[in-house]
Parts: sequence; C-alpha cells; structure tokens
Amino acid sequence: MKVAYFQFSPRFGKPEANRARLAEALERSRADLLVAPELSTSGYFFPDSESARSLAETVPGPSTELLEETARKTGSTIVFGLPEREGDTLYNSAVVLGPQGIVATYRKVHLFNEETIHFTPGNDGFLIFQLQGVKIGVLVCFDHMFPEAARSLALQGVQVVCHPSNLVLPEYGQLTSRVRALENRMFWVLCNRWGEERVEERRLRFTGVSQIVHPKGEILARAEAEGDQIATTEIDPEEATEKFVTPFNHLLEDRRPEFYRL
Ligand code: ACM
Repeated sequence: MKVAYFQFSPRFGKPEANRARLAEALERSRADLLVAPELSTSGYFFPDSESARSLAETVPGPSTELLEETARKTGSTIVFGLPEREGDTLYNSAVVLGPQGIVATYRKVHLFNEETIHFTPGNDGFLIFQLQGVKIGVLVCFDHMFPEAARSLALQGVQVVCHPSNLVLPEYGQLTSRVRALENRMFWVLCNRWGEERVEERRLRFTGVSQIVHPKGEILARAEAEGDQIATTEIDPEEATEKFVTPFNHLLEDRRPEFYRL
C-alpha cells in the first residue's frame, strides 16, 4: 500500500484555493492513501467563532464534492481536516473520502486550547475504516497526547494511523507519533502544516516536520519544518500485525488492565 502526506500551509480564509491545493496533491501523490493537515480548507487561527462558522462546511459540501471528483479519477483515498458544520454545531473534523465517495467523518475528540471556544468535541469515538483489507484509524492533532486513543485503535486491530495535524508545540507530535507507533506496532502518517497565522498581535507558528513512521519507530519519510512536500512511501501493513517484542512479550496480550485506572 502506498501512503503519503501532503504538508502545506493553508491560506487562512481561502477555502477555494485550499481545496484546489488538496485536489492537485491527490492527483500528484499517486498514493492509495493521502493524509492532509487538520483544518486544511480553512486555516486554523480563527479570530472569533463567527469566523469559524463562516469558514465551516457541511459534509457533503463544496470540499468533499471537488475531492470526490478527483478521487474518482485517481482511485486514491484522502483524509483531510475541515471545520464541519451540522446545524448550529461546529466540529473540528477529518473526512475520509475515496473513489466511491465519502467513507466517514471523524470529529476530533480532544480539542486543543482555543478550539474549545469554537468547536464542540466529537462524541462518536475514534474512527476506523478499511482500505484494501487494511484497518486504518484516524486521530486529529491533539489526540496524540492521549495514549489511550492510539491504544484503543491498536486494540481494535488498526494497522495504519492517519494523523492530520496543526501542531504548534515544539517536537511534541513528532516525538509522540514515533512512540505511539512503537508502543502499538502500527504505521503512523503524521501530516502537519507549516507557516504562521496572526490575529492582531498574536502569532501561531506551525511546526511542519510531517513524518511517516514504521511500527518499530523508524522514520520512513520526513519533511522540513517549512515548505510544501508530498512524500509517498510503500508500506507492508502486515508488519503492523506482529505484536511480539520478544518471543515472551506480546504488546497487547501482556497488558495488565487490572492495574490500570482508566
Ligand atoms: C492541535 O490540536 N491543533 C494542536
């Protein structure tokens, strides 16, 4: 299976331009599965909730319509973030969409910082879907700081985690994606954005360094801190099903849940 990330710097408040970039990347990546950043149609740093509302879209909506057309041509599947509007409620969502149309939508469970002002946290749990017989999981950005999220995907047999992100804390997600991959023996595709957004005097700088990680923690592809990049890597998802660390240690079966306070 060919997996890829598309690291770029979405233009704040320009959904048409951003969704065109996503469509172009989906055509160019030649991947089975392409991961794009969190909130990649809108940008991230909303000055207020009215701004978030005006940039939010329904699913289906204009972004999914354009990308469905592209996915039909390329035969690829994309996981990308957008602000989702359902009635009066806004979610920080990731949509999975392939040649057959919309596969599923994941609403971010763990909201970060001021996202909590604009968005409602997802209440449907973490998303798992199948692609070519492979189990794929979806987490969005700050979900990475909760090891229970990745572990819960692993316990359900997930082999590849897609992680659309807008990371701002230095190295956090680059480190945790390796650790979560290693401790759960899963592939991990972290797609982070780069660039800076400002609201008056306040600035947010996004850290880039998207990466594709092997179940043993090895980095298979890695982007720079700044700049657009599509990286496509061939992986064997079967490598994520072997959970023995030594002949006597199985990552999931050796757990001692009776001692864990969840
Ligand atoms: C984040 O969840 N965007 C850090």
